[in-house]
Amino acid sequence: MKTLLIVYHSMTDGTRQMSAAAADGAGSEAATVRTTLLHASQAGPTDLLGADAYLFATPENLASMSGLMKDFFDRSYYAALDRLNGRPFATMICAGSDGRNAARQIERIATGWRLKQVAEALIVCTQAQTPEQILRTKQIGPLDRARCAELGAALAAGLSLGVF
Ligand SMILES: Cc1cc2nc3c(=O)[nH]c(=O)nc-3n(C[C@H](O)[C@H](O)[C@H](O)COP(=O)(O)O)c2cc1C
Repeated sequence: MKTLLIVYHSMTDGTRQMSAAAADGAGSEAATVRTTLLHASQAGPTDLLGADAYLFATPENLASMSGLMKDFFDRSYYAALDRLNGRPFATMICAGSDGRNAARQIERIATGWRLKQVAEALIVCTQAQTPEQILRTKQIGPLDRARCAELGAALAAGLSLGVF
């Protein structure tokens, strides 16, 4: 049995819905791939060491990954350094209008861990611009949830087939 670890943080629920959709998609390989979905505050180096592939999902806040997501990487980085080399990863970003900087930050950390990026960053823009829209609970639409489910399914299928 292989393990896909999904670590996420979400302030207004968008990234959580994206992560749940990805976990659902990964369920298509449930016979050979176990999917573990963890909030960033609950995840740490032991979870990383025990997994075979990773999906990191975060909101973009102030042109950065969210603070709690950064905290997860800060707590995990050195304990996992040189122990994850070559394992596959992908990212999902929930953003108001951009998202690229959060993706870039995670990709840099993953480079330090010598992980292998196996998909382009999946960015969902919620178009939230005003303070009211930004603070409102998000509803990720069916097309975007389907994109997340496809990414989860592709990661799980790749793990199952050993193609990464
Ligand atoms: C403090 C704060 C800063 C934000 N900064 C950005 C930003 O730099 N770029 C962007 O595209 N969206 C930004 N947003 C919008 C969020 O990325 C957007 O609301 C997203 O849906 C949040 O994901 P979540 O629902 O998982 O929390 C910001 C939101 C907050 C609360």
